[in-house]
Amino acid sequence: MQLSVNTLAQLPQAAKAILDHSAENKIFLFYGDMGAGKTTLIKALCEELGIDEPATSPTFSIVNEYIGRDSRIFHFDFYRLKTQTEALDMGYEEYFYSGAYCFIEWPEKIPDLLPDHYTTVNIKVADDNSRLISIQNF
Ligand SMILES: Nc1ncnc2c1ncn2[C@@H]1O[C@H](COP(=O)(O)OP(=O)(O)OP(=O)(O)O)[C@@H](O)[C@H]1O
Ligand SMILES: [Mg+2]
Repeated sequence: MQLSVNTLAQLPQAAKAILDHSAENKIFLFYGDMGAGKTTLIKALCEELGIDEPATSPTFSIVNEYIGRDSRIFHFDFYRLKTQTEALDMGYEEYFYSGAYCFIEWPEKIPDLLPDHYTTVNIKVADDNSRLISIQNF
């Protein structure tokens, strides 16, 4: 599925469409350059899932947890990961196989640790406020 988002105001409906399209999948891999809008889209997804606090934390490290309406949500940013061993050490499996939503930025850093099923979200910058978003289930 492809979505074209032309303003930030369209992100809530894009988030809803992504969640509908992903069906049973709870693990989402976000691809896109720095500043493409991965974190911004994840915030919209968290809001769609009914979190009651803003999806940012001053102590943001590798993983943040939010409480959604019906499910917990883990938000990972693996950008600073140096080796996949660091993900093993932080106990990534506990999160990935918990049944909670997992939104993962920079999955390129953990190529050998991806689960069997996931949804990929590719974000391409079209211009200042426009993004082309491709979603695929695996
Ligand atoms: N349609 C849009 N969708 C997402 N972000 C947008 C859009 N239009 C403008 N932006 C802006 O683009 C920026 C995206 O930054 P964001 O931190 O989400 O990127 P990122 O992909 O998470 O980068 P990083 O790889 O550094 O984590 C924000 O300033 C956001 O407001
Ligand atoms: Mg980000």
